[in-house]
Formats: sequence, structure tokens, C-alpha cells
Amino acid sequence: MIVTEPARTARPRTYLMCPPEHFKVEYVINPWMHTDTPVDTALAVKQWQRLHDTVVDLGHEVHVLAPGDDLPDMVFAANGAFSVDGVVYGARFRYPQRSAEADVHRAFYLARADKWRFVAPTQVNEGEGDFAYLPAAHGGLILAGYGFRTEPAAHSEAQEVLGRPVVSLRLVDPRFYHLDTALAALDDANIIYYPDAFSESSRAVLRQLFPDAVVATEDDAMAFGLNLVSDGRNVLLNTDCGPLATRLATAGYNPVLVELAELKKGGGSVKCCMAELRG
Ligand code: ARG
Repeated sequence: MIVTEPARTARPRTYLMCPPEHFKVEYVINPWMHTDTPVDTALAVKQWQRLHDTVVDLGHEVHVLAPGDDLPDMVFAANGAFSVDGVVYGARFRYPQRSAEADVHRAFYLARADKWRFVAPTQVNEGEGDFAYLPAAHGGLILAGYGFRTEPAAHSEAQEVLGRPVVSLRLVDPRFYHLDTALAALDDANIIYYPDAFSESSRAVLRQLFPDAVVATEDDAMAFGLNLVSDGRNVLLNTDCGPLATRLATAGYNPVLVELAELKKGGGSVKCCMAELRG
């Protein structure tokens, strides 16, 4: 048998995660959340721990944020801020139920002020939920989603704070309410996305900027397959994403599947749990 090694190379990363010790679905702010669906918090913690350990085993550094007991969505650490080259653009949540999370993230960066310059936002934005960074695309490009959570005014604010061009993309399907449910960076220069989650014009922009993008299906998106984390080679996906994993393997990536079914009840998966810290 001929074994072909994946041609892709991984770049070591640093992430921020928060265990779902207080994870519940006690309010509804996206179409995936149902307060009558029972949540097994202990199972959520186990699944999260597996994800955490898998990331560490892949050679990445993970910082862990202590969860707040009255903040059931805090496991979705990606929403707490967005950093590029040591500058951190803080989050400001759309819904009051999550607004205190931003302060916990802010405190994390302020406590490490030697490494991070934290800039408080004036505009509503949900961090890496709606911002993605491609360091090697067009010299360093930020993709930004709006339509459900982040305000378009936050896109220009992020551009001023971070000094990188920001491309605004309009999300049109409420099931894919954050950019990171519809698009992900596969490596430093390329993306995967689900076209129908975007307006026609935003789709045209993505086609123009990323002619080699991997195009995902509705099934991939419904399985939270776009909510992936890639280090350039290893692609972390939840276990519902078998067909997508096969296609990514054919494209030279190494898919790594992790069970995260409990967290899907909150409307999130792999990427939502992991904020990348770009120092
Ligand atoms: N329940 C959370 C919310 O609706 C889920 C957030 C998912 N996070 C993400 N990065 N997409 O705000």
C-alpha cells in the first residue's frame, strides 16, 4: 500500500479555551438553542476536555480561562476578543446574557499587558465569532461577518485598531449567525466556506479573493463542519463531519475528529471553543 503523507505543514499556535463547567441552555439567542432540551453538563466537560487534550497533543499551547458560574455560554471562548500581532480588539456582545464575558476576556489580556495591547471596542462585535484572519492572504487580511451579531461599524473599528484590511461579508441565514459557522481559515492563505450562508455579493467577493477556496455543502454547514480549527495541516472537526473530513483528507489535510454533541445544543462546536491568540 502506498501511503501519501499530507503535503500540508502545521504552524504551532496558542489558543484560549474555557471549560463548560456551567454550560446550560437557559436562554435562546440562536436557532440551535432550545431551553427544553436536556443538557448533560458533565458530558460537555468531558467532550471539551478531549478537545483540549487533542489540541495540546498536536503541539499547541492552550491557556484556560476560569468559567463564570452565571455565564453558561462562556465555553464559547472564541467570542471574547480578536487578536492580530499582539493587538487585541475586545468584544462587545449583542445580548445582555453574554455581555459580562467580555470583561473576563479583557482581564486576561490586561493581566498580560507585556504581551498584549488591549483596545476596548465601542461597537457591538463578537470577537472571532465574526472575525477571521488570513496572515498570508494579500499581506494579512481580516474577514468579518455581519447581519446577526456584529455591527458593520465594528468592521471599520477593527480595521483602525488592527491596521489590516477588513473585508465585510453579509450573513443571510440565521442558522449560520456567526461568520465562524459559515467560513474558516484552512491555512494562512486559504479558506473553506458555505456559499449560501452569504449574500450574493459577499459570495462574489469571496470567489474573487479566494479562487482556490474549498466550497462546503449545506450538510457540512448543518453539521457545524465550518466551525473548524486548522493549524495548516491538522483540521479539528466534530464527529458529525465525516464526509467533509474525507474531502479535506483528499485535499492534503489531516482531519482530526472530536465528539462535541453537547455543545452543539448551545449553537457551537470546535471553533467556538477556541480563541486563537496571535501574539
Ligand atoms: N450560544 C452562543 C451564542 O449564541 C453560541 C456561540 C457560538 N460561538 C461561536 N463562535 N460561533 O452566542
